[in-house]
Amino acid sequence: MSLSYVHPASDSPWGTYLSQVERVLPYLGDLARWAETLRRPKRALIVDIPIELDNGTIAHYEGYRVQHSLTRGPGKGGVRYHPDVTLEEVMALSAWMSIKNAAVNLPYGGAKGGIRVDPKHLSQKELEKLTRRYTSEIGLIIGPHQDIPAPDVNTNGQIMAWMMDTYSMNTGATATGVVTGKPVHLGGSLGRVKATGRGVFVTGREAARRIGLELDGARVAVQGFGNVGSSAAELFGQAGAKIVAVQDHSGTVAHPNGLDLATLIPWVRQHGGVAGYAADGAGTHGAEVIPDEAFWDTACEILIPAALENQITAARAERLHAKLVLEGANGPTGSAADDVLADRGVLVVPDVICNAGGVTVSYFEWVQDFSSFFWTEDEINARLDKIMVGALRRIWEVADQHRITLRTATFAVACERILTARQERGLYP
Ligand SMILES: NC(=O)c1ccc[n+]([C@@H]2O[C@H](COP(=O)([O-])OP(=O)(O)OC[C@H]3O[C@@H](n4cnc5c(N)ncnc54)[C@H](O)[C@@H]3O)[C@@H](O)[C@H]2O)c1
Repeated sequence: MSLSYVHPASDSPWGTYLSQVERVLPYLGDLARWAETLRRPKRALIVDIPIELDNGTIAHYEGYRVQHSLTRGPGKGGVRYHPDVTLEEVMALSAWMSIKNAAVNLPYGGAKGGIRVDPKHLSQKELEKLTRRYTSEIGLIIGPHQDIPAPDVNTNGQIMAWMMDTYSMNTGATATGVVTGKPVHLGGSLGRVKATGRGVFVTGREAARRIGLELDGARVAVQGFGNVGSSAAELFGQAGAKIVAVQDHSGTVAHPNGLDLATLIPWVRQHGGVAGYAADGAGTHGAEVIPDEAFWDTACEILIPAALENQITAARAERLHAKLVLEGANGPTGSAADDVLADRGVLVVPDVICNAGGVTVSYFEWVQDFSSFFWTEDEINARLDKIMVGALRRIWEVADQHRITLRTATFAVACERILTARQERGLYP
């Protein structure tokens, strides 16, 4: 028998998500009756995106928008541009958004989108055409009250501006609330760019406090130095921690006494990666290039995976030195690796709470767009802190109560909310 699209390929992020759902079933009581809801995306749209390249040829790209759950509110989740994007990956990412939004109690379901493309090979003009055509194609199912995209890997405020403009042109009225993560003068929110990294820091700070780990002087290794990784690194640096290793797609740099973020961050912004930073004599303050695989052996107290899925394999989990893993990325730890970390007593703050700061400030942005009344950055950061601390406290209680990992506890809190809503709404028709 051929396999259905909901059956995971081995080792895929969707498979990881499904095994996480299995682990939470014993804690759902009678609500487990509705569990199949969690194993099936509500809706998946696949679109063809043809564009004329600068050289006159026509290129076609695969685009996706998956709405995993709309039970607690409109869909919400980012759009990823990456050559490895597949339907299964987008399904997993959309499902994790359902869990995340419920875990922090935002009035959203879960969704995600993506285009299978390497945007580094496109000109600005081509990127704009790709984005506008994709937005038109998924315009069937997105909207301020239906499903609200946001940035993810390789997408940013400019891409959100084109998406907002395209949707608005197609519907005949400016609809700022159709996407979040927009530039501030187009209805974006202060604090949104760094919100995910800030959330990683806030949950990390709380987890460290609870396990008696002092941030001042703590050694931190960061994989992925884009929006999430660099913002989190900056905040840990400000709290007195030392960023002892940074890895991105271009290489790995390390310094046992701490990398100089004041020169590393502008370098990465200018050159697109850490490559070349340590070779440049000026301003590198003794940073050295290390082999990529050696990153996982870095002596550190805190590890922040903030790149892509499945980076912490079971073999790497055996080698890690960190006491605390803060999942800035979505799905960086496979289920087998999760078990290894739990056995070794390494505390993992899972993606579904750790990186929820971005969607929380996206929610603030959406609320501000509807009311056309904008808050100060201090208000936003204070509200973000309060929501993240409160959500983590509840998850910690559930973890203590059942003696389960923070991941399973986060799923327990979130799935209870999603399935209670499912039950209360009832089945249509
Ligand atoms: N942007 C957000 O608001 C947000 C919110 C929640 C979760 N996330 C998740 O955080 C992660 C990073 O997202 P981002 O927005 O910072 O993306 P980004 O595009 O800004 O940065 C991605 C980083 O990952 C690095 N990377 C890519 N492939 C790699 C590889 N094979 N090895 C090592 N590093 C590699 C890139 O070099 C880059 O530094 C993703 O998993 C994303 O889903 C992002």
